[in-house]
Amino acid sequence: MTNRRILRMGHPLLLKTSAPVTEFGTAPLLSLLDEMLEIMQAAGGVGLAAPQIGVGQRIIVFGAEESGRYPDAPPIPVTALINPEFEPLDGGMESGWEGCLSLPGLRGLVPRYRRIRYRGLDPQGKVIEREVEGFHARVVQHETDHLDGILYPMRMDDLRNFGFEEELALNPPDTDSY
Ligand code: NI
Repeated sequence: MTNRRILRMGHPLLLKTSAPVTEFGTAPLLSLLDEMLEIMQAAGGVGLAAPQIGVGQRIIVFGAEESGRYPDAPPIPVTALINPEFEPLDGGMESGWEGCLSLPGLRGLVPRYRRIRYRGLDPQGKVIEREVEGFHARVVQHETDHLDGILYPMRMDDLRNFGFEEELALNPPDTDSY
């Protein structure tokens, strides 16, 4: 069990730059990762970054075989990634709807790189490197942004495409201009 909670937009720790992890395979790191996965899965999320639970370290967890929040999304392997970095590959940007456990009930249309190569370390310090696209690429970009104090509305280019998911479901926005 955990007594940490997910911080919501407005909490100052969500705006901080997190510090790189320097020690791997330690009991505190492994238990933090377990806790993050548990919190993410309990909340029905597909990603969580350490600062969202008030820990200023460059750690993200993501992935889901299937998600209630994103039922049409392809499965992403459940992954803990430490000190993540990515570079865009060809394919440009594309806009897609995102939510965030720190902005409960809200969704926004956010431009992201369509294809990326990402790299980071697993809990034991071993390199993980993948080339991904679409939703998987989007999730990694979203979570990595949290480590630099960036929340998805800061990436949006049109705040008209931002709102409560219940309202958006009733009145789907016209996104033809994307
Ligand atoms: Ni988020």
